[in-house]
Amino acid sequence: MTATLITGIAELVTNDPAWSGAGQSADVDHLGIVPDAAIVAESGRVRWIGPADLAPQADSRIDVGGRSVVPGFVDSHTHLVFAGDRSSEFAARMAGTAYDGGGIATTVAATRAASDEELRALLADRVAEVRRQGTTTVEIKSGYGLSVDEELRLLRLAREVTPHVTFLGAHVVPAEYAADRAAYIALVTGPMLAAVVAQGAASYVDVFCEPLSAHAFTEDEAREILQAGRAAGLAVRVHGNQLGPGPGVRLACELGAVSVDHCTYLSDADVTALAETGTVATLLPGVEFSTRHPYPDARRLLDAGVAVALATDCNPGTCFTSSMPFVIALAVRELRMTPAEALYAATAGSARTLGLHGRIAVGEPADLTVLDAPSHLHLAYRPGVPLASALTV
Ligand code: NIG
Ligand code: FE
Repeated sequence: MTATLITGIAELVTNDPAWSGAGQSADVDHLGIVPDAAIVAESGRVRWIGPADLAPQADSRIDVGGRSVVPGFVDSHTHLVFAGDRSSEFAARMAGTAYDGGGIATTVAATRAASDEELRALLADRVAEVRRQGTTTVEIKSGYGLSVDEELRLLRLAREVTPHVTFLGAHVVPAEYAADRAAYIALVTGPMLAAVVAQGAASYVDVFCEPLSAHAFTEDEAREILQAGRAAGLAVRVHGNQLGPGPGVRLACELGAVSVDHCTYLSDADVTALAETGTVATLLPGVEFSTRHPYPDARRLLDAGVAVALATDCNPGTCFTSSMPFVIALAVRELRMTPAEALYAATAGSARTLGLHGRIAVGEPADLTVLDAPSHLHLAYRPGVPLASALTV
């Protein structure tokens, strides 16, 4: 393999405490910034990192021309495997119709009707789209199949493009089980989970725990499903507290979830439980943007010492954006995170929920994103401008 030297990096954000120094506020210090830096990458890994004037020789060279390089964004919450279109549902929502999860059935029908080839092509386009916007790691959930065969099909397709796959058989109760919810939960915790585990099709189990939605799952139902998944060896993620105060966050903390996502409506006890257990609060502000809900209170979480992540939740219902820069801009403008906190949450924060570091350091994957800007501040300062792209080395 050949080694590539990357030079012309005006500002390198490493997220590595080894590069933190005195004289900066704590949030910026976490970014481990190296000015006028260079990187050597080889076989997909970082081999050297440091000031450009100390850089070693390499076989080839990429000059990024005074731009900023940051760790590739980690989108730890997406629903990228689906077919169909719900733009009219979005338009109705903008005219005042509330989101209640009922539209998920539309996507389930369209997805079941799509061939493997159709879904594969849609997924490939979406993965290319996220990479063009600087995302190098993506988690993908099932959840638009809702039968044993269909959930396995979606998980298999997701696994073709990422190792970070989540079983969301408990997204909603499908129409054919509406009169017998218990039978659907028995299917999810029984044959569906058994097949997922037997095929090694997913690493995580997730549930849409939302008593305020007639389609989603109550606390007791969610506990049963998550406990079964955990007992079968899957790590736990939860959709919780999206539409109103509820049990999702409490349950996630009780079960040792790696992440609880949305966290839009939190009690003091929820915040304390997150801080004490270390379950990551993954905020998805694109959802609040696209549903006109109030934004989650990121400052309250950060000030309480909760680990915070940012992700898109890219899905056809509540938020059809794949753009992590857009999410970062929302986090800064609407959630009052600092630009440094938002970038850290979109990289190291979300990486932690997938068992990764999300940092640029020797031995780590060379997942690098170039910003067409001199510093990371421009991600929020220039919203909507396509500054970020994943660097292929
Ligand atoms: O994370 N909340 C539940 N699931 C998705 C929305 C899915 C859909 O509406 O298609 C979410 O927001
Ligand atoms: Fe989601």
